[in-house]
Amino acid sequence: MPVSSTDKLSTINQEECLLRFMKQPLTYQNGDMDVVIDYYHAATIPPDLANWAFQLLKNNLYHLYTRSNLGWDEAAKMTDLQAPEARYLVARSAHDPSDLKGFLMFQMVLEETMDDDVMAEVAYCYELQLEEHARSRGLGEYLMQLLFQIGDFWCMDKVMLTVFKDNTGAIKFYTKKMGFALDEISPSACLSARMAKRFDYEILSRPCHPWSPLHPQRQATPNI
Ligand SMILES: CC(C)(COP(=O)(O)OP(=O)(O)OC[C@H]1O[C@@H](n2cnc3c(N)ncnc32)[C@H](O)[C@@H]1OP(=O)(O)O)[C@@H](O)C(=O)NCCC(=O)NCCS
Repeated sequence: MPVSSTDKLSTINQEECLLRFMKQPLTYQNGDMDVVIDYYHAATIPPDLANWAFQLLKNNLYHLYTRSNLGWDEAAKMTDLQAPEARYLVARSAHDPSDLKGFLMFQMVLEETMDDDVMAEVAYCYELQLEEHARSRGLGEYLMQLLFQIGDFWCMDKVMLTVFKDNTGAIKFYTKKMGFALDEISPSACLSARMAKRFDYEILSRPCHPWSPLHPQRQATPNI
């Protein structure tokens, strides 16, 4: 009997470590940047790390939230970061664990598509936030590549994220460097230009690859 998406997601979300197929510790080096990536579940992230993540998000994006339709809702943001299914990849110095560089928070979720009968299985990047001193050195790309590997391994359909239209630097990073494109449910993709203008965000996605070498039920490599 085929496994339903809901059952599959619930099985994945019961997994303690979604990185168990990767060789640990995960490290990233670039010049004098020597970083270790720690993995946490919402239930296991230490409170001081959770507070740092919240402050970093606020420092980086507060100005964009306050001028958006959404506004800045401190309590709601805190709740989002503590969602039961939230998983964290936290980048810190390999030499000094208190020297924190940035984090990616994701969840494995079902997302709507333009077909009312079809839900997509998504590795959703809710946050990718780096300290200013850690940017433009490939760390954002490395964390995002980890999420693609996770999406591939767990046979998700795509990696997805939401970005403010005004966050032009991040949009450039996602589209020019990381290969994301407008998702079919993004306002600019599914609404008239006039309607889409009312939204101050876009939804980007990039497909996961069932022919990835990481994929447990790997299919034959397609001719591409
Ligand atoms: C967006 C972000 C995660 C990218 O991570 P990063 O480690 O800096 O990115 P990388 O070093 O892998 O790639 C850098 C490239 O991405 C693009 N890019 C990233 N941020 C950019 C910015 N603010 N302005 C212009 N280009 C940017 C550029 O092409 C850049 O290349 P360059 O350094 O040669 O100019 C990071 O800059 C960040 O944390 N920004 C603040 C928080 C934020 O906006 N998060 C995204 C929320 S949706």
